[in-house]
Amino acid sequence: MVTHNQKHVKNWVENRPFDLNLRPKTLTEFIGQNGIKKNLDIAITAAKMRQESLEHVLFYGPPGLGKTTLAHIIAHETAHHIHATSGPAIERAGDLAAILTNLSPGDIFFVDEIHRLPKIVEEILYPAMEDFNIDIIIGKGPSARTLKLDVPRFTLIGATTRLSLLSSPFRDRFGMIHRLNFYRDEEIEEIIKRSAQILAIALDADAARELAHRARKTPRIANRLLKRSRDFAQVSGDKKIVLKAAEAALKLLNIDAMGLDELDRKILTTIIDTFQGGPAGLNAIAAAISEEEATIEEIYEPFLLQIGFLARTARGRLATSAAYAHLGYADTKQRLL
Ligand SMILES: Nc1ncnc2c1ncn2[C@@H]1O[C@H](COP(=O)(O)OP(=O)(O)O)[C@@H](O)[C@H]1O
Ligand SMILES: [Mg+2]
Repeated sequence: MVTHNQKHVKNWVENRPFDLNLRPKTLTEFIGQNGIKKNLDIAITAAKMRQESLEHVLFYGPPGLGKTTLAHIIAHETAHHIHATSGPAIERAGDLAAILTNLSPGDIFFVDEIHRLPKIVEEILYPAMEDFNIDIIIGKGPSARTLKLDVPRFTLIGATTRLSLLSSPFRDRFGMIHRLNFYRDEEIEEIIKRSAQILAIALDADAARELAHRARKTPRIANRLLKRSRDFAQVSGDKKIVLKAAEAALKLLNIDAMGLDELDRKILTTIIDTFQGGPAGLNAIAAAISEEEATIEEIYEPFLLQIGFLARTARGRLATSAAYAHLGYADTKQRLL
């Protein structure tokens, strides 16, 4: 059975070859997140001057904002190899030991979805991050021995959508922790224009602005909308993406004026209709719309919170008056926030 969550994962993955071309390779090419860029630039330059490996870095924030991209940029800027894997892919302590002992000094070890790293693996990682050695247990029972192995001075880069799921001793071992924020519409527009150039498709200014406005302040979605609009222009025999093609593509995708898709709207209307505007618990909302809690919490909620359509309280989620207005509800039944 394919759950909604898996479908989303598949959607992200499906765009990979396309994304790879569009992925910025240097800090200068990376648009927005200026604070993070400045910090990374200084840290990278200083590490180079000292001829040391870069301190461990943790990126967190909603999907599609550039965490994986930044990990690859760091590898490029430090001129080191990157070994990329994900939390659930490392099942046993031995898997981790094999990876770490095969790295070269200064190499980047990138772990996506680092909150899903098994606990036993995480514990092996502690001494590796701190003292660059690992304890391996050989044998079983009374004759078991621990063997200390040195590992090269590597840089761990972790990425997660759920910082709160990392234990504090784990978090404390990162020298830098950066939160990626949603992008401003102007930045998204710049990203769309850059992508259009790479894809060699002309794009009208008003089309670029409209796509940017409806891309959920997220580069990955911006690129996806651009790709769909390009399809539309191509099929209509247009040499460039005009506003009409962009609007038609957005309509076909069921994306509304604020950039909300069907599930966004379903989450909000469920809170309003089924739970009288809230507060409603995440589990209750998830059950009402047959969706996974994690999908709502990690993929949908951050944007709805960002644009002020949803509020989180101790007792659950509330639809705000802005959400009522956007969805065309006249009466907010005294639930106005
Ligand atoms: N700041 C940026 N400038 C330009 N393109 C970006 C930027 N951030 C992300 N992208 C694009 O969006 C896509 C998704 O970014 P990614 O790093 O995979 O996000 P995350 O790992 O946070 O889910 C990338 O393939 C890249 O093309
Ligand atoms: Mg990623």
